[in-house]
Amino acid sequence: MAASLVLAEVRDGVALARMNGADGRNVLVPELRDALAGALEAADADPEVRCHVVAGGDDAFAAGADIAAMREQDFQAALRAPAARFWPRLRALRKPIVAAVSGYALGGGCELALACDLVVASETAVFSQPEVGLGILPGGGGTQRLARQLGRQRAMELVLTGRGLTAHEAQQLGLVNRVAPADGWLEAATELAGTIARRSGLAVELAKRAVLAAEETSLTAGLAQERDLFVLAMAGEDRVEGMTAFLEKRRAVFRGR
Ligand code: COA
Repeated sequence: MAASLVLAEVRDGVALARMNGADGRNVLVPELRDALAGALEAADADPEVRCHVVAGGDDAFAAGADIAAMREQDFQAALRAPAARFWPRLRALRKPIVAAVSGYALGGGCELALACDLVVASETAVFSQPEVGLGILPGGGGTQRLARQLGRQRAMELVLTGRGLTAHEAQQLGLVNRVAPADGWLEAATELAGTIARRSGLAVELAKRAVLAAEETSLTAGLAQERDLFVLAMAGEDRVEGMTAFLEKRRAVFRGR
């Protein structure tokens, strides 16, 4: 039987989706993208899960789209390409996603890391948008997310040259939250996800929504949205438990309600 393209497991509220492409480079073929989105959606719907980790292997997080298949695509096929439907599926996930990046995160692989909410990188990680070298440009959010996260000049340099960033460079620029040793990157990512998973799942979901709103709205509209989400959290049982536990000097037991 063929090995599963995505290895999924849930432990202590953290759902790990580990890409396991046959080539070890996790070229983002449609089957891998579908399996990843499916695993994430299933975990997102599981009440036990409070945070996702998306990982690849030691050598590659993901080496981007399938260049051989893309070469054969015509304009019409590109227009209808299911790849476009993959990114909104990630965006629709309610629970936070930690990218655990080791080795190459190139093209769509880099965009996949950028689409996650937090990024933990092995010191071996390389981030790059090399598309202009292939005669195309990033098509999975790379230009927009890099411009928003790094500012126009830095995004221009990365997108127009295709230059790779080391994990430490990416951290200095604010694309990476933590850099971990080559033999401890997955543990570091899982630990960060575990910290989130111990918080109120309800509060974490609402807080993720509030932070993402900052990318889409004016400050006034964002502040109004944050206020509404805050009031929503006040309607939950978790906030009574969280506040009571604090006052009783004990650890809160959240139920995500
Ligand atoms: N699509 C299709 N095939 C790919 C691929 C991709 N994104 N990335 C790697 N491969 C294939 C190579 O064609 C090669 O195939 P072969 O064994 O039949 O010759 C094989 O994987 C190994 O690649 P190679 O370049 O020889 O290995 P490497 O270890 O020297 O380098 C990479 C690995 C990932 C750095 C390099 O392959 C690379 O730069 N890939 C392209 C990344 C890219 O541009 N992604 C954006 C696409 S829009």
